[in-house]
Amino acid sequence: MAKINVMPKHLAELIAAGEVVERPASIVKELLENSVDAGADTVTLEIRRGGISYIRISDNGSGIGRDDIRNAFVSHATSKIKDADDLNSIMTLGFRGEALASIAAVSRVEVLTAVKGDPVGTRYVTEFGEEILLDDAGCPCGTTVTVRDLFMKTPARMKFLKKDVTEANAVASAVDRVALSHPEVSFRFIRDGKQTLMTSGKGDLLTCIREVFGKEFASGLIECSGEASGIKVGGFISKPQYSRPNRNMQFFFINGRYVRTGTGSAALSEGYRNSIMVGKFPSCVLNIEINPSLVDVNVHPAKTEVRFSDEKPVFSAVFGAVKSALDRGDTRVQVEQVSSPYQSNKPYNFPVKYTDKPKVPDEQLKMKTGGGFLRMSASEFGNGGASKKEESVPSPVPFRPKTTLTANAPDSLPREGAGIDSADDILLNSPSPVSAPASEESPVSEAPQPINSEEFEEEQFRLVGEAFMTYIICEYKKKLIIIDKHAAHERIIYERLKNNEGERTGQMLLSPVTVDLPKDEYSAVTGNIGIINESGFEVEDFGSGSVLVRACPMELSPDEIPDIIAEIAGRFVEKRQDVMFEKLDWIFHSVACRSAIKAGNVTSRLEMEKFAKQLLSMPEIRYCPHGRPVLIEMTQRELEKNFGRIQ
Ligand SMILES: Nc1ncnc2c1ncn2[C@@H]1O[C@H](COP(=O)(O)OP(=O)(O)OP(=O)(O)O)[C@@H](O)[C@H]1O
Ligand SMILES: [Mg+2]
Repeated sequence: MAKINVMPKHLAELIAAGEVVERPASIVKELLENSVDAGADTVTLEIRRGGISYIRISDNGSGIGRDDIRNAFVSHATSKIKDADDLNSIMTLGFRGEALASIAAVSRVEVLTAVKGDPVGTRYVTEFGEEILLDDAGCPCGTTVTVRDLFMKTPARMKFLKKDVTEANAVASAVDRVALSHPEVSFRFIRDGKQTLMTSGKGDLLTCIREVFGKEFASGLIECSGEASGIKVGGFISKPQYSRPNRNMQFFFINGRYVRTGTGSAALSEGYRNSIMVGKFPSCVLNIEINPSLVDVNVHPAKTEVRFSDEKPVFSAVFGAVKSALDRGDTRVQVEQVSSPYQSNKPYNFPVKYTDKPKVPDEQLKMKTGGGFLRMSASEFGNGGASKKEESVPSPVPFRPKTTLTANAPDSLPREGAGIDSADDILLNSPSPVSAPASEESPVSEAPQPINSEEFEEEQFRLVGEAFMTYIICEYKKKLIIIDKHAAHERIIYERLKNNEGERTGQMLLSPVTVDLPKDEYSAVTGNIGIINESGFEVEDFGSGSVLVRACPMELSPDEIPDIIAEIAGRFVEKRQDVMFEKLDWIFHSVACRSAIKAGNVTSRLEMEKFAKQLLSMPEIRYCPHGRPVLIEMTQRELEKNFGRIQ
C-alpha cells in the first residue's frame, strides 16, 4: 500500500473546485446568487468567449468589508450560516462558503467592492488560488467580480468545455433561471458586447417571464396559485394547447432557488391528465414556498437538487394549484386520454413561428412521387386528417440531395384524402422517389435496397377488417394475423431511413420553416446540425435562438416540423453523451414515429389490404423500432383449441 499523504492546500482546493465549477455557467450561477444574497436590485453580467476568457458581474448589493475579503475566498467561510441549526432555515441561495474559493482556484479573479458608509473600497486580486494584491480602491457601493482565464492551469477541465457559443448559451440559461426566480431584481446580460437580456426588476413575475422568454411564450400561460399544508405555490403554467414534446420549459423554484424536482414535475403532469395528450408536456414557472426546515438543499454540489422530508404535501400543493388553474381557465382543451401518444390530434406547439407561405399550385403538391411501400407516408396510407395541412405551414416540393431519378418512377402520386382509388397509386414495390419532374440530364440512380421480401401467397390471404381503427385483421396461411398499423408502418419507415445511407431523401419546402427554441435546445441543435442534416433535413442556424428548416425527410408531413425539431432538440439536450450513430438512430425513430399512420386514422379496405400484404411479405419486420411487436398471430389450430373444437 502506498503511503497516505495529506494534500497540499492548493491541490485540495482544486479538487473541491471541480465539484462547484464545472463550466462558465456554474461560475455565473454562483456569482449571480451571491449578488442576490447581498440584496442587490441591479446586477449586470458581461461575458466574452462563452465566459472562458472573461466573466464580470457587478451588483449594487451590500459589498464586502475590508476585514472580510480574505475570508470570503477561504473554503467553508460564509456569512450566511453560523451553526448546524442554521442549516434548517436556509433562506439564502448560498450557504456552503465554497463558491468564491472554488472559482479562485481555477482562474484569475479580481474583486472591487465597497460597503455603504466606508470611506474607501477594496481591490482584491488572486491568481489560481494565490493572493496577488489587496489594496484600496475608489468604487461605488456594491461588488464587481471579474473572472479571467478559466481553467488555464487545469487543461483536463478545459478539454471538457464546449464551443464558445455552447458555453455562452449555457450561461444565458443560468441567467434566465436566476432572473426568473427573482423578478424583483433587474438583470442585464451582455454577451460579447451585445445586450441579450434585460429584466426590469419590477417584481412582477409575468413581466419577468415575458422579458426572459418573449411575448409568445408569456401569452400562452395562465396564472397558477394555491396553498396546502402550509406550502404555497405561485406562478404560471402553460395553457394545455401550448404543450411541448419535452420538459425543457418546466422551471421550478423552491424558496427562490431554481431546482430540478421530480415531485413537482410529476404533480404538474398529474394536474394536466386528461387535458393534454400523452407524450406532451406542459411548461411552467412555479415557485414553491415551503418551511426551509422541511427541505434539504444540501444534497448536490450545484444546489439544484433538493430532498423534501415529506414529498406528499408538496405533490398535493402543486397538483391542487395546477388543477384549479386549469379548471378555472376557459382555455382547457379536453383531449381523451389514450394509450398511444401517436394520436392524430395535433396541438399547437410553443415556441414556433412560421414564415409566410407563398401560394402553391396544386400540381406542385402532387409532385411527390412514391417509391414503393417503403416510401408510403401516413397521408398516402390513408388519411385520417393526420396530415392535413394547416394554413400557415409551407408546402413541400420534393428534392433529392444526392440521387435524382429512378428509371420507372411514375409522374405523380395523389396525396392525402384521395380515397379508395388512390390505394392503387401507392406503389408498393416500385423504386425510390424522384426529386422533380424528369429531366433529360437526370442520371438514373439505383433504388434504395429494399428490405428482404419473400413470395407472397395471394390465394392464402384474406382481409377480415380493422378493429379500434388501430389493428388490421387478416387471415394468412391458416393463421389469424392482427397488425398494429402504426407500429408496423413506423418500423418500415425506420428501416428505409436507416438503410439508405447517403441516399436519404428530403423534400424541399417552398418556404422554409423557422423554429424558435429555448437556449439550451437551440445550442444543442446548432451543435449537431451535421447529424440532423444527415437524416434528410436541411437545417441551418438562423441566429438568436432560431433555426431555419429548408427541407425535411420525404416521409414527414411538413406541419410536423416544429414539433419534431423540438423533440430532436430535447433529446440532444438529454443525451449529450450519445455518439453520432446513436443520435442518428433516434432521429430516425422520431421521423418514423411521426410519419407513420396513426392509430385512430381512417384507412380504406384497399389500403389495409395493400399494407397487410406488403408487411406479410417482409419477414424481417416483426417488431417496431421500440421493440414492440408489429403483429400477433394465432394459428387456426390454436383458435380451435381455445374454442374446444379440438383437443
Ligand atoms: N456579491 C457579493 N456581495 C456581498 N458579499 C458577497 C458577495 N459575494 C460573496 N460575498 C461574501 O462572500 C462570502 C463567500 O461567498 P461564497 O459564494 O464563496 O459562499 P456563500 O455564498 O456563503 O456559499 P456558497 O458556497 O453556497 O455560495 C459570502 O458568504 C458573502 O458574505
Ligand atoms: Mg455564494
